[in-house]
Amino acid sequence: MKADMLVINCNELHTLNGNKVPRVGQEMMETGCIEDGALVVKDGIVIDFGKTEDMEKDYNALKVIDASGKTVIPGFVDPHTHLAFSGSREDELVMKIQGKTYMEILNAGGGILRTVKLTREASKEQLKKEMKKRMDVMLSHGTTTAEAKSGYGLDIKTEVKCLEAIKEMDEEHPMDLVPTYLGAHSKPPEFKDTGEYIDHCCDEVLPRIADRSLADFCDVFCEEGVFDAEDSRRLLIRAAELGLGIKVHADEIKNIGCSTMAAELGAVSCEHLVKSSDVDIEVMAKKGVIGILLPGTPFMLMEDEYSPARKMIDEEMPVALATDLNPNCYTESMQMINTLACLQMKMHPLEALTASTVNAAAAIRRDVGTLDKGKKADFLILDIPNIMHLPYHFGVNLVDEVYKGGERVC
Ligand code: NIG
Ligand code: FE
Repeated sequence: MKADMLVINCNELHTLNGNKVPRVGQEMMETGCIEDGALVVKDGIVIDFGKTEDMEKDYNALKVIDASGKTVIPGFVDPHTHLAFSGSREDELVMKIQGKTYMEILNAGGGILRTVKLTREASKEQLKKEMKKRMDVMLSHGTTTAEAKSGYGLDIKTEVKCLEAIKEMDEEHPMDLVPTYLGAHSKPPEFKDTGEYIDHCCDEVLPRIADRSLADFCDVFCEEGVFDAEDSRRLLIRAAELGLGIKVHADEIKNIGCSTMAAELGAVSCEHLVKSSDVDIEVMAKKGVIGILLPGTPFMLMEDEYSPARKMIDEEMPVALATDLNPNCYTESMQMINTLACLQMKMHPLEALTASTVNAAAAIRRDVGTLDKGKKADFLILDIPNIMHLPYHFGVNLVDEVYKGGERVC
């Protein structure tokens, strides 16, 4: 049979094949590993996979790639990023080293509102230039699809500018972006209280965004001193009425009941979850809510506590991993996140791989993250002999080649 491309002699090929999405519990260990594997691609789609000797017998390809000694996996999916921001906040790192907490930095005029100022000042072209630079790094480190949140504009004009920039960058860049409206990231100074701001988001911003299809999801930073569970609930109900999927930044610094609230509303994902209780985990598992864990954030905040990933996996709650890319946690690398997930949250390297691909895709409702037959050929050739090297050989880029829809993009 004819094919466009054969990737042969993969020391390990992890297809993550299987229909069940997302994967839970023991399923997270089943990555469909084939030793001396081969992948067959036609018209940008995976049409077959198996042992190299069998695939070479069955297919004639125009192009043959020899992946001897290397590991092939689906492209990473990064399901939680704050990609649309201008500037950086490297000086806050010193404050953190000196012992200041996230909330102390925020209250001292740092944090989100500082980035809001810079993002409001930036033109859309300037913002897109900064986003492109980050997207190039993401792609070269193996991310082929990512979620991108707004949330550093807060006012309607800048939120729309950020979501338009995300939409345009999705079209202009080989990496795919999935947009999320996070207007409720912080109360903007021009509103007197959070209630008034949430009214504005519900009445003015969300209808405009829904009307123009500028976002697939609505998210809210549900946290003590930011937006409480009642504010958040009101916003998410309105978003759902307008046809947006719902997500929530929950249980990050204090547990104020947000993950359970969002689970009851049918959220696709609850994100951060450092402080989630056993009952929260039980509720999320029962409702099939995907927990997006972001170990880069406690790492950059120099905190000892990480999300209870082991407990979640043992309770069969679906778990995904993401970078949280933002000016506080500035990394584009899902490889770094895999290392942190294994070392700090005791995830097995195979669980981390599942959480970075198929489960991450489910958390943004995209049919990617596996190399099953009929799926888009988004894959990575890693210069490592087996997948254990992914978390183990850390702090360097292990990606050799990146393919998106069967085309080499990096
Ligand atoms: O997900 N937690 C809220 N938002 C971001 C941080 C944003 C910032 O510090 O700029 C987060 O970690
Ligand atoms: Fe975040």
